[in-house]
Amino acid sequence: MKSVAVVGASGAVGDVMIRLLEERKFPAGTIKFLASERSAGKRVIFNGDSYPVEILCPEAFEGVDIVLSSTPASISREFSPIAAKAGAVVVDNSSAWRMDPEVPLVVPEVNPGDILKHKGIIANPNCSTIQMVVALKPLHDAFKIKRVIVSTYQSVSGAGQKGMSELWAQTHARVNGLDVPEPSKFPHPISFNCVPQIDDFLPSGYTKEEMKMVLETRKIMGDDSIDVCPTCVRVPVLYSHSESILIETELPITPESAREVWEGKPGLTVVDDPSAKQYPLPDSSKDRDDVFVGRIRQDLGRPNALLFWCVSDNLRKGAALNAVQIAEELVKLTAVSA
Ligand SMILES: NC(=O)c1ccc[n+]([C@@H]2O[C@H](COP(=O)([O-])OP(=O)(O)OC[C@H]3O[C@@H](n4cnc5c(N)ncnc54)[C@H](OP(=O)(O)O)[C@@H]3O)[C@@H](O)[C@H]2O)c1
Repeated sequence: MKSVAVVGASGAVGDVMIRLLEERKFPAGTIKFLASERSAGKRVIFNGDSYPVEILCPEAFEGVDIVLSSTPASISREFSPIAAKAGAVVVDNSSAWRMDPEVPLVVPEVNPGDILKHKGIIANPNCSTIQMVVALKPLHDAFKIKRVIVSTYQSVSGAGQKGMSELWAQTHARVNGLDVPEPSKFPHPISFNCVPQIDDFLPSGYTKEEMKMVLETRKIMGDDSIDVCPTCVRVPVLYSHSESILIETELPITPESAREVWEGKPGLTVVDDPSAKQYPLPDSSKDRDDVFVGRIRQDLGRPNALLFWCVSDNLRKGAALNAVQIAEELVKLTAVSA
C-alpha cells in the first residue's frame, strides 16, 4: 500500500482524481488532500471517510510515496521538486515540467516505458495532446504519420473551475436578459460563442496551447519528424474536448485499414456509423475513460491522407485518469523491483 497526496484536491482535475482513486480502488494505505489556504476548512469525502483539505507546505510530503498534483504550473515548479527530494514520485498535471528533457512525458497507451526514466517527477501531457496521441500512435506504427492538421473544440472545464463558472454565469445572464459579466478566464465572452485563442499568442502567431500540441506530440511519440499544424478553439461546452484531425502518412491509408489498426487498442473506441447518426460526441463521452474516434473518411484528393473526429473527457483521460494510470504503473513497477 502507498501513502498518497492529492495536491490541488479542490480543483476541477483534483475532484475527478479523487473519484477515480476511489473507483479504481487505488492501493492508498494513507491519503491526504492539499490545496491553497482558500480551501482551508473544506472537507473531502473519500471511501466514505471525511478528510480535511490541508494547506500545501513543504512538510506535507513527509512519508508520502506518490503525489498526484494538479495545480497551476507556478505552484508545481515550487513544490514538485520539494516532494521529489522528500522521496515521493510526483505525477504532475501542469505544464511546468512537460518539456524538461529530464522529465518523462507519459501517456500509458503510447510510451509506458518512459515511466522508468523518472527522477522523481513524471509529467502528464496537455489534455488535447493526450487524446490525439492515443488515436495517432497505432496509425503511426502502421502507416508512419508525416503531418497532422488538427482543429480543436475545447470545453470550458479545460480552464478549471473558474472556466465552468464563467460559462454558467454568462449563459444565465444572457437567457435572463441581464448584463453579461465581463470575461475574466477567457479573452471574450464564451457563452454562445467560439474563441480561437487558448492561452497567450507567441510571435509565430500560434498560441502556447497550440505549441503544446506540436512539441508534446513529438516528445511522447518519440519522433521529431512529425509535423503538427494545430488551431485550438474554446467552445461553450462544459466537458470533453473534440478534435477534427487530418493525417498525411508515408504509406497509403484507408478508413478500413485505419479501423483494422484501431480495433482492440486499449483506451480507444471507434464510434462510426454516420447512417445511424453514430459518431463521438462530448456529451456521450463525459465520465467515460476512452478516447472515441469516428467520422473516419478518406481525403478526397489523396490516398495517403485520412480525416477523423476524436472526442474524450478532458478531465478524465485528458488529465486525472492519465495521471492515475501512470501512478498504477508505478505501483506495479515498485512491486516488481521490491
Ligand atoms: N482542466 C483540465 O482539463 C486540465 C487538463 C490537463 C491539465 N490541466 C492542468 O491541471 C492543473 C489544474 O487544473 P484545474 O483545471 O483543476 O484547475 P482549477 O480548477 O483552477 O484547480 C486548481 C487547483 O490548484 C490549487 N491551487 C491554486 N493555487 C494554489 C496554491 N498557491 N497552493 C496550493 N494549491 C493551489 C487550487 O486550490 P484552491 O481551490 O485552494 O485555490 C485548486 O485545487 C493546471 O495546471 C492545468 O493546466 C487541466
